[in-house]
Amino acid sequence: DKGEYRHFMLKEINEQPRVIKATMEGRVTESRVLEQALGTEAGDLLKDVRHVQIIACGTSYHAGMVARYWIEDLAGVPCSVEVASEFRYRKHVIQKDTLFLCISQSGETADTLAALRQAKKAGFRAALAICNVPGSSLVRESDLVIMTQAGPEIGVASTKAFTTQLTALLIFTLALARKNGLSEEREADIVKALHLVPGQVSDVLALDGEIAEISKRFMDKNHALFLGRGSQFPVALEGALKLKEISYIHAEAYPAGELKHGPLALVDSEMPVVTVAPNNSMAEKLKSNLEEVRARGGELFVFADRAADVKPEENTHVVLLPEVHEITAPIVYTVPLQLLSYHVAVLKGTDVDQPRNLAKSVTVE
Ligand code: M6R
Repeated sequence: DKGEYRHFMLKEINEQPRVIKATMEGRVTESRVLEQALGTEAGDLLKDVRHVQIIACGTSYHAGMVARYWIEDLAGVPCSVEVASEFRYRKHVIQKDTLFLCISQSGETADTLAALRQAKKAGFRAALAICNVPGSSLVRESDLVIMTQAGPEIGVASTKAFTTQLTALLIFTLALARKNGLSEEREADIVKALHLVPGQVSDVLALDGEIAEISKRFMDKNHALFLGRGSQFPVALEGALKLKEISYIHAEAYPAGELKHGPLALVDSEMPVVTVAPNNSMAEKLKSNLEEVRARGGELFVFADRAADVKPEENTHVVLLPEVHEITAPIVYTVPLQLLSYHVAVLKGTDVDQPRNLAKSVTVE
């Protein structure tokens, strides 16, 4: 039931404050991740993990890419991320004491399951699933499970599944990091920041009107570029995927530093450039990338934190977001990009919940 909403996608975008909170419930206190957050056997299985291999597809793969930044930063454990359809068809080396982590909303994605089954034969320490569907094949075949509490996701374009996956992945990272020397203070700082996320997402949802207004600038465009740095690069990838899926506008995402290594050649007044620029350590560097785009007449759409100090100028639209912790920023910054693609699709009159050629669950190769 869509309730008051015109589309399931919009309903699901708006459910995010609640479902992110639900995914934290029973897993964190005010300032700590609970020992039992990942189940009773987790302690032993995580103890000697020396490497994490993440496997997923589509949006879930983007969640895995964000997690890699967290796992290496906070736990100091090397982490590799690969799309399932690539992993399953190449020869790979599974290092000793690898935790195999599959991320899937449905738990039935054929390539992800095939990768898991193959890796099981090759031998690894344990299989952890992050999944939204209890009783799915992925959940049944994994040793440890963190269920996201997104509730049923009907829109083919994944929204609330992604932000709850990120929530679960951050909780997992903290549990792993604690076994690898993360200080109590740093853990408390991040858990407290996580508690602020549902409220910050609500604040972003309140910007809906402003985002709907700028979405008009995309209606007659054929292409768009998304830029982000660090853990915001996967957020840019996810923003581009959403725009492609539901508005059929060709969109590509780049780490902002790659701009001058090629894609800058595409930038002109017909190429809108969307940037996610929270006030993290990368903001200053990102600003020079923005200059490069502006100098070529490109129209810029910047989603930034007040403290990033990006000023609206000619051809530059700035949407100010709440101040967020650097670690939790990818969760919050995903939401305005969901709204942007939603409004572009509505303006273009596409079938938002059932985009052409796509299925909700890809159970065949
Ligand atoms: O159910 P899964 O998370 O395994 O699905 C993976 C992808 O098929 C899925 O995320 C797809 O990319 C979505 N349509 C993205 O919006």
